[in-house]
Amino acid sequence: MAVLITGGAGFIGSRLAAHWMSQSEQVIIFDNFNTYYDPAIKRQNVAALGDRVILVEGDVRDQAAVHALFAAYPIRRVAHLAGMSNVRYSMDQGTLYSDVNTTGSVTLMDAARKHHVEVFVLASTSSVYGSTSRIPFVEDDAASMPLAPYPASKRAAEIFAHTYHHMYGLNVNVLRFFNVYGPNGRPDMMPLKVLKAIHHGTPIPVFSGGELKRDWTYIEDVVQGVTSALKRPMGYQIINLGFGSPITLNAFIRIYEQLIGKQAIIEDVPTPPSEPLITYCDNSRARDLLDFKPSTPIEQGLANTWAWYQREFLSGLP
Ligand SMILES: NC(=O)c1ccc[n+]([C@@H]2O[C@H](COP(=O)([O-])OP(=O)(O)OC[C@H]3O[C@@H](n4cnc5c(N)ncnc54)[C@H](O)[C@@H]3O)[C@@H](O)[C@H]2O)c1
Repeated sequence: MAVLITGGAGFIGSRLAAHWMSQSEQVIIFDNFNTYYDPAIKRQNVAALGDRVILVEGDVRDQAAVHALFAAYPIRRVAHLAGMSNVRYSMDQGTLYSDVNTTGSVTLMDAARKHHVEVFVLASTSSVYGSTSRIPFVEDDAASMPLAPYPASKRAAEIFAHTYHHMYGLNVNVLRFFNVYGPNGRPDMMPLKVLKAIHHGTPIPVFSGGELKRDWTYIEDVVQGVTSALKRPMGYQIINLGFGSPITLNAFIRIYEQLIGKQAIIEDVPTPPSEPLITYCDNSRARDLLDFKPSTPIEQGLANTWAWYQREFLSGLP
């Protein structure tokens, strides 16, 4: 029996794959190595997993390829992480985001229910909450007013997942991730961009005077939550997966300044309409249903990220 990780060459997927392989599980990765960020990074992520991983290159929008995948392997659990991310990047790309994140997810769920998958985990996002007035974010919020195509496409996939549960009994755990970061992080996300900017002495574009708050969640905590979700068939559940302690960008930058020993150069820029003032996770449901115990505070997580960056990229420097 195998676990399928779509998007397994990416940041979260490759860390999840490493964890499952360390438990001697058979892992299949399905990924199209798109060029949203440098695919060489994704190749490296997969290479680091060693020979035992099964890599199938393909696109979640390709129905024939997805059905062939399920026909070829005894897949019992699916972590569906493949997708287009980034709220701002999605702003003028509604069609692409709905094709990949909504239609691609439906294609996966269709194959999963036909092949009697026991648990299907769907990666969603805290950005589905938009500018809700319910703070911290709770799962029973209608989340019906997303601010950009990315969260709209993820919310639509969540709703389709309910339909697949209702019609076919597919067990779906929808996980709403909150600002995941850590070693091997995505190069387009703030934690690596800010780290590089402070290290190289280049300006950091900052919205709203640095007062926007984000609920940063460390990668290993997320891997623990996804792993629990993959083991627990629970009908249809929507579950927030976040640390539960938002901080301002200014505070985030200060932690890095201390770690790196340099001062950031701040450049104030207008806040785009896609950006909510805060992301803030109520993680009580994850604690109840997944035994989720996020244990990495932001100071520790950023210290680990900086240590990883130094090892990977700066070790040759004097
Ligand atoms: N990192 C975060 O903070 C965060 C927050 C909320 C939600 N998420 C969601 O979690 C999932 C994983 O995020 P990540 O940070 O690891 O992103 P990532 O971009 O590193 O990984 C996604 C992977 O999916 C692959 N992919 C994209 N389109 C595909 C397609 N059409 N067919 C097959 N593969 C495709 C990409 O090549 C990539 O390897 C995504 O669905 C993302 O939207 C991430």
